[in-house]
Amino acid sequence: MLRTRFTETFGIEHPIVQGGMMHVGRAQLVAAVANAGGLGFITALTQPTPDDLRREIERTRELTDKPFGVNVTILPSINPPPYEEYAQAIIESGVKIVETAGSNPEPFLPHYKAAGIKVLHKCTSVRHAVKAQKIGVDGVSIDGFECAGHPGEDDVPGLVLIPAATKVLDIPVIASGGFADARGLVAALALGADGVNMGTRFLCTQESQIHQKVKEQIVAHTERDTQLIFRTMNNTARVANNEISRKVVEIEAAGGVFEDVKDLVAGARGRRVFDEGDLDAGIWSAGQVQGLIDDIPSCGELISRIVNEAETLINSRLGSMVA
Ligand SMILES: Cc1cc2nc3c(=O)[nH]c(=O)nc-3n(C[C@H](O)[C@H](O)[C@H](O)COP(=O)(O)O)c2cc1C
Repeated sequence: MLRTRFTETFGIEHPIVQGGMMHVGRAQLVAAVANAGGLGFITALTQPTPDDLRREIERTRELTDKPFGVNVTILPSINPPPYEEYAQAIIESGVKIVETAGSNPEPFLPHYKAAGIKVLHKCTSVRHAVKAQKIGVDGVSIDGFECAGHPGEDDVPGLVLIPAATKVLDIPVIASGGFADARGLVAALALGADGVNMGTRFLCTQESQIHQKVKEQIVAHTERDTQLIFRTMNNTARVANNEISRKVVEIEAAGGVFEDVKDLVAGARGRRVFDEGDLDAGIWSAGQVQGLIDDIPSCGELISRIVNEAETLINSRLGSMVA
């Protein structure tokens, strides 16, 4: 057993988190992570309406009696979803852990706190983590530059970002971006973190409801198989290398604006990748950690492997180095 401030504060058996993943954070995956002793997050906005989210929470409860959470990602958007109603659905459903991401969670915190909900805020810089601690979140996940999805614009990798954060924070810190195995977990703990958050690794498990071909592509991909899109728009996203992501980068390099890539990056095209296994249908998030992923295990196998190997690493390999 690995005990950290995260496992204690959030009441989770192992210091391993499955962060919110659009289109992927659904009942089956979240419950599998929970049953394996990790903390899984349903992704609220994958559900078309707040009532659908209520039903997804119920479905998850039918599959596990362990704790799980809901991720609410607030990104700039022309037609924003009804965030307050999603928050209300979470509160009324009795979920006790929320992962916030994308923007400052301050307006929602009093409501979550009043409902006894613990908040893990995900961010990409030390200054945002410090701000989150100040406004009263219970923990922060910090995404390094390696991560899938939105790494921010500072380009600081985890090896520097995580200790820079843990040096100045008092609340539990979850290291995120580039983690897939026991070596990563032990390294994160050595850097002062209290656990790891994984996206791409959980995307490539048996319970993740995406096409088998996408999982096989993650296994085949190396650490070099990502592209950074939207760099020129100050909204960088790390996605898998494919025809579409290369095209978007090319258009941006030639001075293109969002309007020029809008159709290529449409959410519906990305859905086709996950649902139909058409790997070049659209863009899909994946991190550099693809280079460390060699199999498609169940969440149970994955989490017990990471925890067992981490214990051996700490006790035997590292312990034996102390003369
Ligand atoms: C397919 C996919 C979708 C994601 N969608 C979201 C999201 O909606 N909200 C969010 O906060 N993070 C999202 N992320 C980021 C993950 O929660 C996590 O922070 C990131 O994957 C960590 O980096 P890693 O992939 O190297 O483990 C997504 C990641 C992936 C792979």
